[in-house]
This record gives sequence, C-alpha cells and structure tokens, in this order.
Amino acid sequence: MNHSISLTVNGVRRDIALTDPRVTLLDLLREQLDLTGTKKGCDRGQCGACTILVDGRRINSCLALAISHDGASITTIEGVARGDELHPLQTAFIAHDGFQCGFCTPGQLMSALGLIDEGQAGCDAERIREGMSGNLCRCGAYAGITDAVLEVQQKLKAEKERRVA
Ligand code: FES
Ligand code: FES
Repeated sequence: MNHSISLTVNGVRRDIALTDPRVTLLDLLREQLDLTGTKKGCDRGQCGACTILVDGRRINSCLALAISHDGASITTIEGVARGDELHPLQTAFIAHDGFQCGFCTPGQLMSALGLIDEGQAGCDAERIREGMSGNLCRCGAYAGITDAVLEVQQKLKAEKERRVA
C-alpha cells in the first residue's frame, strides 16, 4: 500500500512516498531526505539529539510517526543558518564553547530555538537549564550551552526594549 505525505522541510515543499507507514520523522529525515544533521542518539525519547521544530514546536523526532504529520512545516538544523551566515544562536554556541564532540549540538540548538520562541525561560539561567533538561550532553558542555542561550535571550530583550523606547 502506498502512503504519501507532503511536508514543508526548511521552507521547501516535499511530496514523499513513505517506504513504511511506521517510519519516524527522524528516520525519514536521515534516510530518505539525506538530512543527517538531526542525530539519532537513544531512538527512544530520552536524549534530545533528534530534536526538530514541527510547526514551530520542538519535538523528539524519534518518537514522531511521519505519517501523522502530513502537511506539517519542519525545521531541522540544516534550515537554521542563512547561507554562510550563522544564526546568532549558533554564533553564541561557538563563543561560549557550548559543545565539544558536537553530537548533541543540533538537538541542543533546535531545542534552544524552540525554548526562545516559547518565551518561557526569559533571562533566567535556572529556567533555561530546566527548559533544556531534555537535551543530554555526554561531554558535559551544559555551562556553555546555558550561557549561549542566555546571551541570545538578553540580546533579544535589549532589542525589544530599544524598539519600545
Ligand atoms: S534519539 Fe530521539 S530522544 Fe534520543
Ligand atoms: S558536545 Fe558531545 S555530547 Fe554534547
């Protein structure tokens, strides 16, 4: 039986024939669409390495069936930079040593983008840590990750205040 879905992936519409109706978004991205920036760590919702944005909300793509997301808009790490220009969050991760081996980094970045959009953590390091607690880092780069997210939050806040003034 043929199962087809349409997704908008990093701004580009893709019509996709699923090889198996049980395929997850993670496997679809990595194996069918060659978007291997999204990482497979545990494959059971415990590490956050596979975090992507679906309709702007962060999810663990290893737990999401592709067939359940027909029509969705998906952002992966490949869609974050603008050409050669890094997203400010990526620049902040570099500036604050927010990674070592880099395996968890795509998931950390996508989760942080989701967290910033949710507007829940503000400029509070403890709340940022809590909001990012689903993203594990075996290298223990947590301090740099928190500092990077905090820096971007503070810049956004300052920009907002400048616009209001
Ligand atoms: S690979 Fe999805 S949460 Fe670990
Ligand atoms: S940078 Fe190595 S797992 Fe996080």
